[in-house]
Amino acid sequence: MIYIIDTANLEQIRECMEYFPIDGVTTNPTIISKENTGFLPLIKSIRELIGPDKQLHIQATSETAEGMVKEAIALKEAVGGNFYVKIPVTREGLKATAILHNMGIKVTETAIFTQQQALMAAKAGADFVAPYVNRLDNIVCDGCFVVEEIVTLFREHNLNTQVLAASFKNPEQVHKVALCGGHAVTVAPEIFPALINHPLTDKAVKDFMNDWSGVYGDKKVLDLLGK
Ligand code: E4P
Repeated sequence: MIYIIDTANLEQIRECMEYFPIDGVTTNPTIISKENTGFLPLIKSIRELIGPDKQLHIQATSETAEGMVKEAIALKEAVGGNFYVKIPVTREGLKATAILHNMGIKVTETAIFTQQQALMAAKAGADFVAPYVNRLDNIVCDGCFVVEEIVTLFREHNLNTQVLAASFKNPEQVHKVALCGGHAVTVAPEIFPALINHPLTDKAVKDFMNDWSGVYGDKKVLDLLGK
């Protein structure tokens, strides 16, 4: 399972990477705009922070295939490392995806809402497809079901494209995607703690410490080992 953090905020990335097993960062034009700072220094700082090996997904903003390809080449040059250009699943986007695939530039096909969009993107050469789970749930369409069918389609048709599910609002959506074989999830920083928090875990830890301190006071393991 690949866990990606969906933010361009350097402090949030730093904090999440310190505590959680994060494999990379995704952004989109909305997420980048929220930082309201210079684009090039921001994306370079993200790369510097996460290192060359972790995935960094940045979206092209051109609406033509030619423009998207040019942006992808420039973005890859700017950030280097394990880079994916995000391309929306439009007609121009599919055309750009095929060109980029042939050039060896990795593509995450984004703004996916249907199974057939995902299949078409995979055929065009996308490395990841990003279906938007919560936005589908919001229109009373089961986002996790869409992910499940995309996973099935890729498996049935021997496609190597992976599913990077996006747009989550709660841990239950993430869990369902993981359960149905989604390869990766990109989640907002506030969702990561929610994936592990449990009151019984807090209670168990507190009980352990109460029992321990009843015998050993405020001494810790290292104190008792003489270290
Ligand atoms: C990521 O690739 C998507 O752009 C993002 O997850 C969308 O999330 P949202 O629906 O919370 O904006």
